[in-house]
Amino acid sequence: MAEARRVGILGSGDVARRLGAGFAARGYDVMLGSREPKKLAAWTTETKGKVAAGTFAQAARHGEVVVLAVHGDAAESVLDSVGAASFAGKLVLDATNPLDFSRGMPPGLFVGTSDSLGERVQRKLPAAKVVKCFNTVGNQQMVDPKFASGPPRLWICGNDADAKRATEAILKEFGWAGAFDVGGIDGARWLEAVVPLWFRAGVALNTWEHVLQVVR
Ligand SMILES: NC(=O)c1ccc[n+]([C@@H]2O[C@H](COP(=O)([O-])OP(=O)(O)OC[C@H]3O[C@@H](n4cnc5c(N)ncnc54)[C@H](OP(=O)(O)O)[C@@H]3O)[C@@H](O)[C@H]2O)c1
Repeated sequence: MAEARRVGILGSGDVARRLGAGFAARGYDVMLGSREPKKLAAWTTETKGKVAAGTFAQAARHGEVVVLAVHGDAAESVLDSVGAASFAGKLVLDATNPLDFSRGMPPGLFVGTSDSLGERVQRKLPAAKVVKCFNTVGNQQMVDPKFASGPPRLWICGNDADAKRATEAILKEFGWAGAFDVGGIDGARWLEAVVPLWFRAGVALNTWEHVLQVVR
């Protein structure tokens, strides 16, 4: 997969802004997408690098790589509103989580464990190369992660080997040791299922800057 320099990010929240700033600081041409692009005016002014705001559809068309960073509940409807054609052949980094806060903290999941949001995204976008990535870490640590034990590998999964190699290259650019690949997109069942555990660990440790890691 040739190196992609245009990134479209569907979202206007903490994840979209953090990843958008991280890509822009590394020379990527970034567009964030929102139902209300005007609310990103301050972010586009303050952020260094080539950044812009548009609709979800404009951001999807802009990106050679597209990041999905919307509220989990809204992920499928946002993809429907854009249309699958805008994602065909592209690497789609899916950072979403199907979190259910209806019973308060810590959250549960509204999909799982015989399906996942990552698989639903891949089914919505059959011609895209969906890689689940960034969903298992708080936005504060997504770019230039700082951990006492050094940068670990970040959990990913997806069906396309080239797309996962391109994802790992992005992770390394962002300061991660690399990717911890747990297989096909069905691995999203488990990368999403660990997020309620991540919340419980955060409550216990009183931080949102931690990450779950395998050591041996
Ligand atoms: N926050 C974190 O640290 C973190 C870490 C890992 C993964 N995640 C996951 O990453 C995703 C983004 O998280 P976030 O905290 O940055 O933001 P968020 O508050 O979960 O989502 C904000 C985005 O969702 C869109 N949205 C919400 N309801 C919508 C609806 N009904 N229709 C269309 N769009 C809708 C918003 O669109 P508008 O721009 O139009 O308002 C906005 O772009 C989530 O799935 C979250 O679980 C978050």
